[in-house]
Amino acid sequence: MRDAPSTVHPVSILDVVLPERDLSERFDVLIEGKSILDVRPTQQGGFDSHAERIEGRGRWLLPGFIDDHVHLREPGLEKKEGYLTGTAAAAAGGVTTLLEIQNNQPLMTSRRAVESKLEQVRPKSVVNVGVYGSLVPEIIGHVAEMSDLVAGYKLFLGPSTGGIDVSGEERLRKLFAAVAETGHWLFVHAEDGATIAAGVREHGAGGAKTWHLARSAEAEITATRNALALGEECGTRVHIFHMSSGGATELVKAARDAGKPVTAGTCPHYLYFTNEDTERMGTVLRVNPSIKTKQDQEALIEGLRTGAIDCLSSDHAPHPAEEKARPFEKAPSGIPCLDIFMPLCLTLVERGVLDLATVIERGAVTPASVHGFTRKGRVQEGFDADLVLVDPEERRIVRGAEHHSKAKLTPYEGMELMGWPQLTMVQGRVVHTA
Ligand code: DOR
Ligand code: ZN
Repeated sequence: MRDAPSTVHPVSILDVVLPERDLSERFDVLIEGKSILDVRPTQQGGFDSHAERIEGRGRWLLPGFIDDHVHLREPGLEKKEGYLTGTAAAAAGGVTTLLEIQNNQPLMTSRRAVESKLEQVRPKSVVNVGVYGSLVPEIIGHVAEMSDLVAGYKLFLGPSTGGIDVSGEERLRKLFAAVAETGHWLFVHAEDGATIAAGVREHGAGGAKTWHLARSAEAEITATRNALALGEECGTRVHIFHMSSGGATELVKAARDAGKPVTAGTCPHYLYFTNEDTERMGTVLRVNPSIKTKQDQEALIEGLRTGAIDCLSSDHAPHPAEEKARPFEKAPSGIPCLDIFMPLCLTLVERGVLDLATVIERGAVTPASVHGFTRKGRVQEGFDADLVLVDPEERRIVRGAEHHSKAKLTPYEGMELMGWPQLTMVQGRVVHTA
């Protein structure tokens, strides 16, 4: 993970609510350089008068969210998105750290490829960024050499954008074993290719109505079971990305209950929509894994509540509107949402889906611990000044045309959300104001 550049002069953010602690108290937060130097009840007062002052006036100060599943397409497909627009979208959406999966060429299969990508994208980034190694057969022999540069390694078990899924037990075993030696988590897109092929034969690939049957819960469950088994056999820590089904959630929970090193995440689209919405709305909700049933959605929410699911991530997947306008079977899969990620998460609180503490946990605290960011995820002395100021009274309507992301088409168009970042700070530096 690489840090964004920073300034050094002290800044104080005064009179803010820290929702992770208590909604009824006010605090002053002093920032020096990249870090939080002090957090005090406002009543105590008396910070260094030279500090630049940001008046909080009772607004919420949250830890910046850590989004560990993003696609930005740079290098290679900058016309769809790049780090300039993608990290601006992240800052606007309350994400101060993003971890990105390159699934277009050039893949991250050597140290040189990772170094070259970081050299290219870091100077353009206004938030902290990290990248994953690409677990495809060509990476064998190069896994260890990049381990200090990457956030982990990403494996696709089923076909998706980029066509870089891997099958074959022996091949997979080698990849799992290689990652185990690095100590990193192995991050999985858990959809089983063979089960998807059977689902497509039975239900076709063309229908919005049957997308969740063609790419079924069974495909996710099978791939999750296989990944957990290989992880156990090879001693690899396994993280299941973007879970979409109750069945996979149960498998992860059982593994966790048995003390296995297994973690998981899910995304806003699985919490806001069901397969019936895909049927109604079409390609704008075409995504892999597919959006499943109401019962699956309820199980995911329960998983977030109980902690069986650790992380909320965006799976920001930018595609141009023209491509999404194709017939369902020819349209690309993926939903962009970086520009509105924190509002989407916080609005779940207002809708009574999750409580505020859970959203902060899953958006910031547990992603920090999964990724070993010991100074991130909390508004606390000694932590990085990755902070987001939100007016809990403000409501805004989602307008894709206003997004920093190049992908303007959004299934959330016209939705009223709360929790819009008014100020985003990364390593002590203000990178977004609204
Ligand atoms: O729907 C998806 N879109 N799923 C993925 O696995 C990749 C993503 C993309 O990169 O477009
Ligand atoms: Zn993805």
